[in-house]
Amino acid sequence: MTTTPSDQGQGVSLGMPQLPAPDYPDDVRARLETDAREIIARYPDSRSALLPLLHLVQSEEGYVTRTGMRFCADMLGLTTAEVTAVATFYTMYRRKPSGDYQVGVCTNTLCAVMGGDAIFEALQEHLGVGNGGTTEDGKITLEHIECNAACDFAPVVMVNWEFFDNQTPGSAKRLVDDLRAGAQVEPTRGAPLCTYKETARILAGFPDERPGAVEASGSAGPASLIGLRLAKGEAAPARVVHPRTSGPQDVTPNDEPETGQATEEGE
Ligand code: FES
Repeated sequence: MTTTPSDQGQGVSLGMPQLPAPDYPDDVRARLETDAREIIARYPDSRSALLPLLHLVQSEEGYVTRTGMRFCADMLGLTTAEVTAVATFYTMYRRKPSGDYQVGVCTNTLCAVMGGDAIFEALQEHLGVGNGGTTEDGKITLEHIECNAACDFAPVVMVNWEFFDNQTPGSAKRLVDDLRAGAQVEPTRGAPLCTYKETARILAGFPDERPGAVEASGSAGPASLIGLRLAKGEAAPARVVHPRTSGPQDVTPNDEPETGQATEEGE
């Protein structure tokens, strides 16, 4: 929020932002325009480039500013209202200054019951911030996130959209401590971790130049791929997984309980 010069003299604020949004410095704008034209050229209809362009401006400032939205509108012939409507709809676009590392704890149903809720509570207390809050050192922004299609590795924590599988409150606290200390942190699978701005540039569609990053992209886990194997006609034995107490156990169809029969001891 800003006040106009005349407002300042009278001590009155209208609560209105500066209009239009300030532009980027010339050198930044020239660099972003070059990148934006490369992105726009990938699409038959330029407005289809809006999502990657929002990632591009996010890679510049760490979040989508009004300046960034004005830039997207200018490049695509859209109104800033149209760009704002999109930027505020998707949760992958941040609307305020945030940390180098976005730590997202999945609190959707499966992760929640497997410990996601406990992890989120532990991290809130450990970091002293609530949902969407950023630590004072500017390193960590904590938020709860929706299902990231990694339910077979629940509970899942994501840092800058890289997976940290099968977490516990203790392992999650060690993770954020290492991130704040600048220690090397390796995701459970996928590419090595990079900062949020670097991640945003990759999401804008520019290649990840780091050696080995693409090859390390990982894949879905066995539980997610069972449906695909069945669709291909590959036999896959039914599996019963006892979380925490023991590993998966293969069972044959003849071992399956009759309808209504208890599946766990004591049930
Ligand atoms: S519920 Fe957490 S990844 Fe699906």
